[in-house]
Amino acid sequence: MTGATVAAADGDSVHVDLRLVVAPSAGTFRPAAEGQNGKRGAVLQAGTVVGYIEGPSSDVDVATFCDGHVVRTLAHPGERVRPGQPLVWIQPVDTTGSAFTIAGDDDDDVDSRPAPEIPLGFLGAGAALPALRMTNDDLAEHFDTSDEWISARTGIRARHVADPAAAETTTALAADAGARALAAAGLDPEQIDLVVVATATPDSACPSTAARVAQVLGIEAAAFDVNGACCGFVHALHAVAAMVAVGPPTNALVIGAERFTTLVDPDDRATAVLFGDGAGALVVAAGIGGAGATGILAADLGGAPSALAVLEVPTTSPYLRMDGPELYRRATRSLASSALATLERAGLTPQDVDLWVPHQANSRIISAAAERIGLTPDQVVVDLTDRANTSAASIPLALSSIAADGRLDQDKVVLLSAIGAGIDWTSLLLRWGR
Ligand code: ACO
Repeated sequence: MTGATVAAADGDSVHVDLRLVVAPSAGTFRPAAEGQNGKRGAVLQAGTVVGYIEGPSSDVDVATFCDGHVVRTLAHPGERVRPGQPLVWIQPVDTTGSAFTIAGDDDDDVDSRPAPEIPLGFLGAGAALPALRMTNDDLAEHFDTSDEWISARTGIRARHVADPAAAETTTALAADAGARALAAAGLDPEQIDLVVVATATPDSACPSTAARVAQVLGIEAAAFDVNGACCGFVHALHAVAAMVAVGPPTNALVIGAERFTTLVDPDDRATAVLFGDGAGALVVAAGIGGAGATGILAADLGGAPSALAVLEVPTTSPYLRMDGPELYRRATRSLASSALATLERAGLTPQDVDLWVPHQANSRIISAAAERIGLTPDQVVVDLTDRANTSAASIPLALSSIAADGRLDQDKVVLLSAIGAGIDWTSLLLRWGR
């Protein structure tokens, strides 16, 4: 049950409780009686069937539990729904019998924004960077390169490089970012029931970095890693959202953490200038659905393993090998097509996006992709100037930056897009907020 402000018949605004009819089971939603019972203003009695959930073996009725008017049907005919997903808003008939009227002909009294596919609260973000900052000029002392060449082609001016001798391990960076995210969320470690770390550079193969982080932070909970290279954090957030939607996790700590500089050939100027180390973290929690609620509005996933050799650490070498120009072309194309596919799934346009947070590989890739999508520079988050490409850490680091500088307000529509080794790509469209 929730509330809404509506206009009473005498013209005054009053606050009334609206009731949500939710899906009793998973399946495909079909409205009843050619949709008449789900139409705005339809008068229903407790027990009226407004639709069905088609399941694998049988159909399940969706019935109201109170007398009232339909304010809105939230699910589309044929939509796949999950248990508990809000389907219909009901305005209960008031006890005097003089029904409240819904203000206006249209939807200005009721939140008309789409309900998230997965309701989720985004409670707090945190970041951690190694102490050592290396500028392009510092690198030019080791390679035949220059600040001019690097910054013109990539937008990068400096990067942070971890020193394990100074205890700057992947685990330590991840735990530091995680502790900051917990503090921003206002949660204690014992309130977290899932930890996931996206990393391609764990401190050891086993146990997971997430388990090590949980141990450092004093979290007694499930913990596992995702290795999705530069897509890792978005894949991890997507997986966590699905796990929270199904349950039992309620509050999860999702981290992207890398010491990607360890994968770079110290003699290869072409790759050495591109990467940096760091970690970013986000605390997410199960949310309450409904129109305008925070959470995941839509997603996209894709891959082309046939192009694996474009960016890989070969099995015969400890170092990254990259076809830069080919990767540039693929990254620009895939970031744009993934972002657009996600918006289309949500029924939104590029103009509806408040902030696009792409994987922070290269400012030229980001601006070329943004142009293809139809985004203006004020919608685009660039966070690589002082950090370079931190692989799975780049998106949570960028989220942490815009949370800190006030751009990441409640209800902002935020699009995350990544491309990485595999080759694979992914996007998540979020309505941000607690
Ligand atoms: N400093 C100076 N010169 C260099 C450097 C360097 N660091 N690196 C390469 N060069 C030289 C090359 O040797 C070449 O010289 P040549 O013409 O004498 O042979 C010249 O610069 C041009 O080389 P290209 O590779 O064609 O340079 P390009 O203009 O394509 O820029 C770059 C290279 C910046 C790597 C570009 O291809 C790119 O941005 N690609 C995407 C790579 C990327 O972002 N990777 C990140 C990992 S993947 C991910 O996160 C999704």
